[in-house]
Amino acid sequence: MKITIIGSGYVGLVTGACLSEHGNDVLCLDLDPRKIEMLQRGEIPIYEPGLEEIVQRNAAAGRLRFTTDIVESVAHGTVQFIAVGTPPDEDGSADLQYVLAAARNIARYMTDYKVVVDKSTVPVGTADKVKAAIGETLRERGVELPFSVVSNPEFLKEGAAVEDFMKPDRIVVGADDERAIHAMRAIYQPFQRNHDRTLVMDVRSAELTKYAANAMLATRISFMNELANLAEVLGADIELVRRGIGSDPRIGYSFLYPGVGYGGSCFPKDVKALCRSAQENGMDLQVLTAVEAANDAQKLRLVQKVVARFGDDLTGKRFALWGLAFKPRTDDMREAPSLVIVQELLSRGATVCAFDPVAMKEARRILGERIDYAASPMAALDNADALLVVTEWKEFQAPDFERVKSLLKQPVIIDGRNLFDPQTVKAYGIDYDAIGRH
Ligand SMILES: NC(=O)c1ccc[n+]([C@@H]2O[C@H](COP(=O)([O-])OP(=O)(O)OC[C@H]3O[C@@H](n4cnc5c(N)ncnc54)[C@H](O)[C@@H]3O)[C@@H](O)[C@H]2O)c1
Repeated sequence: MKITIIGSGYVGLVTGACLSEHGNDVLCLDLDPRKIEMLQRGEIPIYEPGLEEIVQRNAAAGRLRFTTDIVESVAHGTVQFIAVGTPPDEDGSADLQYVLAAARNIARYMTDYKVVVDKSTVPVGTADKVKAAIGETLRERGVELPFSVVSNPEFLKEGAAVEDFMKPDRIVVGADDERAIHAMRAIYQPFQRNHDRTLVMDVRSAELTKYAANAMLATRISFMNELANLAEVLGADIELVRRGIGSDPRIGYSFLYPGVGYGGSCFPKDVKALCRSAQENGMDLQVLTAVEAANDAQKLRLVQKVVARFGDDLTGKRFALWGLAFKPRTDDMREAPSLVIVQELLSRGATVCAFDPVAMKEARRILGERIDYAASPMAALDNADALLVVTEWKEFQAPDFERVKSLLKQPVIIDGRNLFDPQTVKAYGIDYDAIGRH
């Protein structure tokens, strides 16, 4: 099938690459020429495990191409996936300008039937706006052409995006016409040979499903973060509590890890956008409002622990940070808790030396030379007053604690991800403080 992907970022590139891997003829469009030139040279602008091989293999086979040419991209695919960004607007609502611009571009140049698929995360009612934008542009052109608009939210996780796309838990298709549903089923059939995981529903329910999923996951995180803070006060161990509740199948173990707060390009903006949608409809989502407030507070938790130990004035103090990305296996720094932590430490006069296995280039782009960057986890510790663990990369999980202790000026680890067993670390004579443990 001929497919066009509009927007070649985390979602668009993974979608395009995975669809080409199953034999489709895919053309990926992006308006950023730097991105497209890199992709045309076989380079991947983002870090995502397994993506490079798939892109290179399918590009070499001629099934995956990249362009900045809108006329070419509209002509190419009968199915046009919109996977552009939907960043938060000033009032927290999702900014739809990129989605609607992509829709108008399709309408400007289409000459035959198109299935326009909203893969970006968009508020309920966006498919109607996309439909209206296309209809209006066609009218301006004085032509009448058939098209369908489908909602097909994406549930992939950064860091495991290829795997998630290849083996989806579910494929949500919001559509109200058979022709479009048939096209979507054909596209996704190879990804669900074992059993059908497609959930066909009305467009509005599909749009809301994506926000509901992210809001639920964010809720679990904020819930556990608050309980962890309470466990500290009460002298309980949140790790044991986590296992105690996770064993209940109604609760399950996933997404119950306390930490430094959720970040990334999705949860923060999606929680905000859902709250905003509710407000626009005269409702207050009280649970989610609290989820967001609890998360904002949690991003300061490590700094509170630092201040409790070293005082509010951190002049002359130096802190090693392990991890900058908002989660492991990605270089994505959008809304990363590390940014808040760095900002708070610097504003109190401290210096920071950080190490991240893949996000340092991106961190340097955002933070510049305001912090130092180390060549290895151990190098970051040199002369530091404490180690702060911010991202749970696998390679941080079993360090040589003797060396950690000898490199640090003071043997202090403040662990924002509960990576280590407190007794083990303390046995090395290291002062260890984690989230909700003792
Ligand atoms: N990143 C994730 O893990 C994830 C997961 C599920 C859903 N989503 C949703 O998918 C959407 C895209 O997210 P992302 O992380 O891939 O964003 P991204 O910023 O990585 O990529 C978006 C790309 O779209 C391009 N673009 C913008 N306007 C364009 C236009 N009119 N025509 C062509 N290209 C255009 C940008 O240059 C950029 O490269 C968002 O709505 C997001 O909420 C993201």
